[in-house]
Amino acid sequence: MDRLVVQGGERLRGELRVSGAKNATLPVLAAAILADGVTTVRNVPELRDIATMLKLLEGLGAGTVWDHQVIRVDASTIHKFVAAYDLVRTMRASVVVLGPLLARFGRAQVSLPGGCAIGARPINLHLKGLEAMGARLELKGGYVEAKAKRLRGAEIYLDTPSVGATENLLMAATLARGRTVIENAAREPEIADLAAMLVSMGADIHGAGTGVITVEGVAALKAADHAVIPDRIEAGTFMIAAAITRGDVLLRECVLGHMDAIVGKLREAGVEIEGEPGGVRVRCRGTLRAADARTEPYPGFPTDMQAQFMALMAVAEGQGVITETVFENRFMHVSELRRLGADVRCTGSTAVVRGVEHLIGAPTMATDLRASACLVLAGLVARGETEISRVYHLDRGYESIERKLRKLGADIRRITE
Ligand code: EPU
Repeated sequence: MDRLVVQGGERLRGELRVSGAKNATLPVLAAAILADGVTTVRNVPELRDIATMLKLLEGLGAGTVWDHQVIRVDASTIHKFVAAYDLVRTMRASVVVLGPLLARFGRAQVSLPGGCAIGARPINLHLKGLEAMGARLELKGGYVEAKAKRLRGAEIYLDTPSVGATENLLMAATLARGRTVIENAAREPEIADLAAMLVSMGADIHGAGTGVITVEGVAALKAADHAVIPDRIEAGTFMIAAAITRGDVLLRECVLGHMDAIVGKLREAGVEIEGEPGGVRVRCRGTLRAADARTEPYPGFPTDMQAQFMALMAVAEGQGVITETVFENRFMHVSELRRLGADVRCTGSTAVVRGVEHLIGAPTMATDLRASACLVLAGLVARGETEISRVYHLDRGYESIERKLRKLGADIRRITE
């Protein structure tokens, strides 16, 4: 298992390109299933989760070619309809193949994902929505077996604006008979990106990116060519890397319009963020100030930035209160941050962070993707050496993070065993 070793104290300076968004690429690759042809996806980040999705598509019989940032998926050869347990348990996002398989082939067998480090994460809303569209569902041996001759349009209200459920139902609705309305839909930019791809395949979709999405089903979709949006969470993580080291970094291909809540919070904390012709400049010259943050579905402050924001608050002046409302167990980084000397007290879904003058490096262990990012950020500013083990979590969602940080002047290296 690889480890990262960071010597804290270097100010980050320079320019960096933000990679394509993991959480946009995964559903877009699943959408390729909907067309009988070769779909091209561009701006793909090189990540372990993307490789897992390709393995899943190949398991269905699709042909895939991955050349740098471009993936081609030939879905004309799909002849199996199973997402097996060994893939779904390593990547929950595998369940987004359920909607497209069912819509195009009338059948799918997808392993139920188990619990996860950050919460229970059920998929009841995905299943309820598909049932409303006429799918017959059975649970057998840990698998959901879904069948439908042709899905029919339905009015679906999501109890919570689930990103994955919105994606699954949106894809299923494109080939259903009649109109589907998804209410209380997730509004994340990744949903709008998926819809843009589906529209270029010939789907009839209105309202993606808002809370009400309307889809008029069509008989067939054609393969398309789509470039995914930049990763707003990677961009936010690098903004904090620049701020926490009192650096000055220019982020290229950073869409500020997807990051209002993140940018607002960072500005409140004293970080300067300005759009420039070549990108977005992030620097911190004055005092870092404590700020409160509460995670919410988009356009609220993203749960995927909560751990990284906590690293920043750990060295800010004053006391910040961080509340996690999206996942029930997403404070696993707290005990590791404390090992670096952070002053964090948790009660239920609330963490009170009192900034300390300095953190001190220590060996730490990552528990999930964003928790790992939090520890890297803390390591960048901690005195001495911080070691982060279980780097495979980071490799799921950050493209060559240590190479990118080193380019900005960080003293960080990977130790492969
Ligand atoms: N939920 C249900 N029932 C469902 C679906 C969701 O109760 O059927 C609950 C979940 O348990 C959770 C909340 O609804 O408490 C939100 O979950 P959601 O379905 O929106 O999350 P997701 O689709 O499983 C995606 C991202 C996550 C990100 C969340 C929230 C992908 C591949 N994953 O997950 O990303 O945290 O949305 O924004 O898009 C990450 O990248 O580190 C990551 C975990």
